[in-house]
Amino acid sequence: MALSALNVGIFPLGNGYKQQISVLTPKRSCFSVSLAAEPKESSSKRPEIELEFLGPKLDGDGKYPVNRAKSISGEKLLRNIMLDNKLELYATYGKVMNCGGGGSCGTCIVEILEGQDLLNERTNTELRHFKKKPESWRLACQTIVGNKENSGKVVVQRIPQWRK
Ligand code: FES
Repeated sequence: MALSALNVGIFPLGNGYKQQISVLTPKRSCFSVSLAAEPKESSSKRPEIELEFLGPKLDGDGKYPVNRAKSISGEKLLRNIMLDNKLELYATYGKVMNCGGGGSCGTCIVEILEGQDLLNERTNTELRHFKKKPESWRLACQTIVGNKENSGKVVVQRIPQWRK
């Protein structure tokens, strides 16, 4: 059966996507509709923070394994970035007993080796947990990565208490 395509038009949608409607019409009876969506470009222009995560234990080459991720500045907590990227955050006790990001258990400890100035200030919860701990230690669930305007690189040591 011979078909002829008729492009009806491109229509903006409320969610930032555009929708193109094409109608294929057979010479005689029924017709079908195909829909295509294209994302708007503006979301990709927001500043980003690059993250490097050093594993807690040396690998066979005597180096700490490195994982990398990116995040839109000021959009996510460090804990959520690590969980989204399936990076081990908790030591043994924390795996079972963590508070789920509420700031009460103190088990989501990371050490910021580089890029401290790209993060929020330590919260009161962190100040309470880290009275006698290094300045560079943070609770991942209290740490906001970026401030919506800055960009750069943050280097994170996972489970730093294993090195002490
Ligand atoms: S997950 Fe409990 S303090 Fe961060």
